This record gives sequence, C-alpha cells and structure tokens, in this order.
Amino acid sequence: MTQDLTIPRPDDWHLHLRDGAMLEAVLPETARHFGRAIIMPNLVPPVVTSAQAAAYRDRILAALPDGMSFEPLMTLYLTEDTDPEDVAAAHASGLVKAVKLYPAGATTNSASGVTNFDNVRPVLEKMAEIGLPLCTHGEVTDHDIDIFDREAVFIDRVLDPIRRATPGLRVVMEHITTSNAADYVRSQDKDLGATITTHHLIINRNHILVGGIKPHYYCLPVAKREEHRLALRAAATSGDARFFLGTDSAPHTDSNKLSECGCAGCFTATNTMSLLAHVFEEEGALDKLAGFASENGPAFYRLPVSTQRLTLRKSETAVEFPAKIATADGPVTVFDPGFEVFWAVADD
Ligand code: NCD
Ligand code: ZN
Repeated sequence: MTQDLTIPRPDDWHLHLRDGAMLEAVLPETARHFGRAIIMPNLVPPVVTSAQAAAYRDRILAALPDGMSFEPLMTLYLTEDTDPEDVAAAHASGLVKAVKLYPAGATTNSASGVTNFDNVRPVLEKMAEIGLPLCTHGEVTDHDIDIFDREAVFIDRVLDPIRRATPGLRVVMEHITTSNAADYVRSQDKDLGATITTHHLIINRNHILVGGIKPHYYCLPVAKREEHRLALRAAATSGDARFFLGTDSAPHTDSNKLSECGCAGCFTATNTMSLLAHVFEEEGALDKLAGFASENGPAFYRLPVSTQRLTLRKSETAVEFPAKIATADGPVTVFDPGFEVFWAVADD
C-alpha cells in the first residue's frame, strides 16, 4: 500500500549554501527537490553589494551539477554602509529579491550587521518605495536578555518600531520560533510574512538538552518550549498564506559543530520534504502542505508558483536518509528527527 501526494515543486525561502567545497557538496541536496531558494548572504566576508551578489550567484550556478535545475534568489546583507541606490539597482535588474537584516552579533557571521537602526533608515525607506522585502533575523543581542527571550523582545524593541516608522515596508520574520512571533504576524497586515523551519516543527529545547547535550540540534534562534513548537505547527498547517517554508538549512562540518564552542545550525536540506509530509500528516493537514512549501512563499515574493511537480510517496518501509553528507572540508551531519519516516520523494 502506498499513498501519493503531488504538490507544485517547492521552494526554500531561507537557505545557507556557503561557498567553495561546501557549496558544491550541499547544493545538490537542495536542488534535487527545490526549484528556487532565497540564498542567505552571511558568507565571510558577507554579500553586501550587488556586484558581490552577482558573483555569488555565478558561483552557485557553476556548482550546479549538469541536469539539475535550480534558481538562486539572491539577497544583500544589510550594513550601516549599504547604499540605497545600489540596492535599488540590484532590485531593478532582477538580481536581488530581498535584503537581510542581522542585528550585529546575533548569529553565525553576523559581525557586520546593524547596531544603530537609524543608520539604515534611508535603505529601508527605499525598499518600502520599491517593494523589496526585508528578511529579518529576529533576535536582539543585548547581553542582559535571556537567549530564550530574544525573539519576543526583538518584536517589541526593533521590529514593531521599524515597521511603524516605515509604512509599506514588506518584512519576512525569518525562522520564527515562538507563539509571540506567530501571534504578531496574525495581528498585522499582508506586508508581514514569516518563514518556519522544518526542525522547529520537530524539536523543542528538551531535545537539545535532556539526556546529554545534542549539538546537532543547536541552531539560532534556539528551539523553545514545547508550547511554542505546537504554536509553530498550528501556524504552518493553518493554511494562513503569511506562513511559509524557509528551512534555514545551515551546514557546518562535524568538527565545527562538535567543539567546545560549537556552531549554530541544523542541516535539513536532504530530508526536509519527507519530514514535512510526516509532520503535516500528524497534524491531519496534508492538504495544507502545498500552500506552506510551494504556494505561499511565491505569493509573498510576487513570483509565479512552479509549474513543475514533486510527488511524495508514503510506503510501509521506513525511509533511510544518509547520516552525513561528505564535503572536502569534512562531513556534515544530516538532521535526525529521532523517529521513523515513511514519506519519500518519488524518483529520488
Ligand atoms: C545560521 C548559519 O549557520 O549561517 N545558523 C543557524 O543556526 N540558523 C545563521 C542563521 O540563520 O542564524
Ligand atoms: Zn539562517
């Protein structure tokens, strides 16, 4: 007995591909299933100018194996020196689909992010004028704010003031991890959307910390209490078009994860679609998966839904995912959900 679910080819609205050997190794994991992805600009050094974004796009396309199709949707990393005219030109040419705001020091490679939000006001105003979305890493970095509260405090202290001061600015709250964020999105108009990762639908903070520390479950924003995981599941499976998939698949080699100061990031590109089918079936919402993974994101970004299709097939045999992806820099561990999964992408 098998069961098939066919959806438009999905897109990933928040993805880390890195560069060089890592890019080569992880790109096929995404391109196998996804048609497009919003590419995060947090390289070292970051992708700040339109010229850097064009060069990075070329490196991504050069790393794409023959026979695979994939469209990288480029972003610019917002700094206090970002030139509004460069942003506008990058948008007008079709190269850049969003600008990414990292509060300085919030996460991996975010040292060049924003400290004084007044200094980016001209860029935000230009973005509101031309309709270019701002993607936000929604965590404050103040040392006195507990890491589990940083998203909720960001909404009050940073995001809401920016949105009030910049009418018409279109914003994506990325990788939301709290009911506070889901509630805030619901309370606002259609200029605000949010991405949700696969792993935040599956793990809560106990998975990271109970029975020994699990570095492969550590990412930013860090997973929160169970009640928040359930709120994210409710949002993702609700059919509300403001919520859509952004995996935040973030590869780090095992030596960088399993260290005294381990990197943040879960690598989910390989098994995301199988895991989402599992989660949506658990929630009795398989009919909402196409919206979440394939339709709501393009609608927010004002792009067409893919005309290609992806079929997920449930069988009675558990799917075997590779435990690790080999890269020339060392192995990257694939996210382990901790349960058996019976949905596979057909033709894989
Ligand atoms: C991301 C990375 O490794 O680049 N890590 C993560 O835990 N999500 C950065 C980010 O999106 O915060
Ligand atoms: Zn990310």
